[in-house]
Amino acid sequence: MTPFGTVELTVYPYDCDAFGHLNQAALLTLLERARWDALARGPGMDLFDRNGVWPAVRKATIEYRAPAFARDVLRVETTVAGRGTTSMTLRHVVRRVSDDTAVAEAEMVFVCIDRLGRAAPLPDEIARLLGPHPAAGGGHQPISVPAGDVELAVDVRGEGVPVLFVHGFPFDRTMWRHQLATLSRVRRIAPDFRGVGGSGAPTGADGYSLSRYADDLVAVLDALGVREAVLCGLSMGGYVIFELLRRHPTRVKALILADTKPQADSAEAKRGREELTRVAEREGQGGVIERLLPRLLAPATQATQPEVAAQVHEMARRWSLPGLVGALRVLRDRPDSTETLRGVRVPTLVLVGSEDEIAPPDTARAMAQLVPDAQCHVVPAAGHIAPLEQPLATSRLLADFLGALP
Ligand code: MLT
Repeated sequence: MTPFGTVELTVYPYDCDAFGHLNQAALLTLLERARWDALARGPGMDLFDRNGVWPAVRKATIEYRAPAFARDVLRVETTVAGRGTTSMTLRHVVRRVSDDTAVAEAEMVFVCIDRLGRAAPLPDEIARLLGPHPAAGGGHQPISVPAGDVELAVDVRGEGVPVLFVHGFPFDRTMWRHQLATLSRVRRIAPDFRGVGGSGAPTGADGYSLSRYADDLVAVLDALGVREAVLCGLSMGGYVIFELLRRHPTRVKALILADTKPQADSAEAKRGREELTRVAEREGQGGVIERLLPRLLAPATQATQPEVAAQVHEMARRWSLPGLVGALRVLRDRPDSTETLRGVRVPTLVLVGSEDEIAPPDTARAMAQLVPDAQCHVVPAAGHIAPLEQPLATSRLLADFLGALP
């Protein structure tokens, strides 16, 4: 859902540099025009004035993907990528209308300021227009899919090659919200694990195992009539995919392994899982995430993107207690998957945040070496949750890999 309609704008000669390319400053101006045009057609250009606040740009991240030239008509799609108490994040995707080439993607963070320049809460009218908080489900309703003894909540969007997005611990399907919103050329399928978010949560210890998590993913594919999918997993999502490769190898068209590793837990790591289980039982989800958070996000994310830390807290709160305890046992007992990866014969992309402490870049490079012809990319300025910390760079790597699949 977006309050901003799609806008088409023409590139004028004076927007271009000496070589005839749309220049960077002009692209920013064009995006601004697109936002005002969309407001004019929707809630009115005086939306901010009449609410006594002004949207000040605080951060702009732009990926230029192809040149544009004078007289090109560009289509600008704008969606709401995030909102805080005083801020909102908009995502623009710019395509050339004549051949649908992706020209640029941009993310802009705005802070509402009052007439004295102080940050002000988003007024009700604007908050309503922006829609539900993306961290609480991305404004997209999941479907319910039966999987053995539980119903799973699954976000399903778009058409094309099916890509199954598998979240990590203790996150949920919304950790992929940027990729679910933007990878518009593929069919995006993102379930919550059993015990998490909108999925059912068995109460008994035997409700959670690596094989159950893997079979749940196959139940999702079956329910959607998907024979073969690209599997894209982060960390624990990767461990579950390794199990799926062992149990259902014919269901895998290609692999994307993000911030994950094939090794089993060391004796020390197993003790850490047990300690965390006691924290979960004593203090609940809040205690678990307090312990984990310092190692999850890159220092730059912690310093400049408080909304990412807030989403991580929110996702952890959506785990049931049996789900948390069950997953910690599964993580502790998971097998080594080195041999599984040596047997992979499908296109594989490995990616890792440059500051990932849990599955660091060296481990990712070594993992990529196990799979013939695997690609390996490091996402700069990201920790353990690259898709959420650096969404543009991560989505671009995914889009390039998916676009090149046979
Ligand atoms: C995850 O993100 O899924 C966890 O970091 C996995 C782990 O703790 O091994």
